[in-house]
Amino acid sequence: GRVVVLVSGAGSNLAALLAAHDDPAYGARVVGVVSDKPGAGGLEIARAHGVPTAVVAPADFPDRAAWDRAVAESIAVFRPDLVVSAGFMRILGAATLGRFPDRVVNTHPALLPAFPGAHGVRDALAYGARVTGCTVHVVDAGVDSGPIIAQAAVEVQPGDDEASLHERIKVVERALLVEWVGRIAREGMRVEGRQVSVG
Ligand code: GRF
Repeated sequence: GRVVVLVSGAGSNLAALLAAHDDPAYGARVVGVVSDKPGAGGLEIARAHGVPTAVVAPADFPDRAAWDRAVAESIAVFRPDLVVSAGFMRILGAATLGRFPDRVVNTHPALLPAFPGAHGVRDALAYGARVTGCTVHVVDAGVDSGPIIAQAAVEVQPGDDEASLHERIKVVERALLVEWVGRIAREGMRVEGRQVSVG
């Protein structure tokens, strides 16, 4: 299946998907990368792999709705079967979600519904959580609130700071995302209420 990846940052999740897509048996190919940030590291990674990119920067639009419509358009150009938000730090609006219903998934570095939002790792650490982890979920209109596809637990270790904990989470997160993007691409995904079935 055709996968479009949305990135805002370093793009290590994207890099993991690109490594997997080199195997024809994986069943998913990254056909486009879209970012809200012209300087996102993920754009360089896409270019290095010969994957087309698009930048849709909020500053270039009069309001969020116009930006959201432009994001939907830039994704649609690649004709995706699945849209993967991997470190994309913007909330996708009705235009994008309406264009790709139940076909946008996100990875979050915490065990939702715990610690949603832009600082899930920092919040888990500050709370004193002993176990946190990562979640792959369907994107709905809320913030990190859509139906859950898969989760994996990661222990918080003494002396952890946000960076060390996030790195430990990302090792697990990249593997979880690669596994489930491949399964969704090969076997399909159905969402009924809060239940997601793959295959
Ligand atoms: C990931 O942990 C993602 O869950 C979070 O930001 C990180 C992005 O990492 N939202 P990368 O850009 O894929 O390296």
